[in-house]
Amino acid sequence: MGGGDTWIRKDGRSWLQKVACDVVKMGRIPNHVAFIMDGNRRFAKRLHIDRAQGHLMGFDKLTETLEWCSDLGITEVTVYAFSIENFKRSKEEVDCLMELARQKFGVLLSEREKLHQHGVCVRIIGNLHMLPLDIQEIANEIMEMTSENNRAFLNVCMAYTAREEIAHSVKELATLAVNGDIRLDEIDEKALSSHLYTRMSSDPDLLIRTSGEIRLSDFLLWQASHSILSFVEVLWPDFSLWHLLACILYYQHQISYRTADEI
Ligand code: FPP
Repeated sequence: MGGGDTWIRKDGRSWLQKVACDVVKMGRIPNHVAFIMDGNRRFAKRLHIDRAQGHLMGFDKLTETLEWCSDLGITEVTVYAFSIENFKRSKEEVDCLMELARQKFGVLLSEREKLHQHGVCVRIIGNLHMLPLDIQEIANEIMEMTSENNRAFLNVCMAYTAREEIAHSVKELATLAVNGDIRLDEIDEKALSSHLYTRMSSDPDLLIRTSGEIRLSDFLLWQASHSILSFVEVLWPDFSLWHLLACILYYQHQISYRTADEI
């Protein structure tokens, strides 16, 4: 089902889906879920449609997933929308993904009322200077517009890799040290975390990657060190509420083994 031009859908669910959600909600729901939305191009190839269409369907799946997360009481979602590595793809594909971001961020700006109504704070996370200037501007406008909202958080990682983020944080701390603004003994895990792009966010409780690849591809390496990881065989545009519920059940099962001293 196409979501139309919106990030905030209200498609509703069937009675069976509602019952299943209610059952899963009897257990602990993760506060923060991160997604590696992998498999758009393989999906496009399978359907004999262009890559651009595959990415557009990937965006539609993102909006559907946000609605499910909201219904389940997940308060923070982080998605890997474009990695620094993705700049190495063909110019045609990079341009297509930038155009998709340009259009969809524009839609997000126009949904100001709905974002405020739902209390959604949106953060675009990454080395934003690597993005075209107009996208940087629109990203900053979105962040400013929603910065006071605090009921739900959506983090969209663009021009992001975890190694670049960690290197950036170390560089900021080194600059502070050289200028005498921080002592060497003050540089610890907490200081490093507080200079990451994600410094305003909690660490993800659950990280989901679609498409059957079992790796993190430089996503949230620092933040996900204690997250439950769930790798799903399905391509991202085929991801369904049932897959999400299965991931949450897996999360509930995994955390039930954790002893009080484990994080
Ligand atoms: C990975 O699949 C997906 C991407 C690199 C892009 C993800 C982007 C979206 C889902 C759209 C989000 C858009 C906005 C504006 C937030 P892939 O292209 O690597 O596919 P493959 O693994 O089959 O090659």
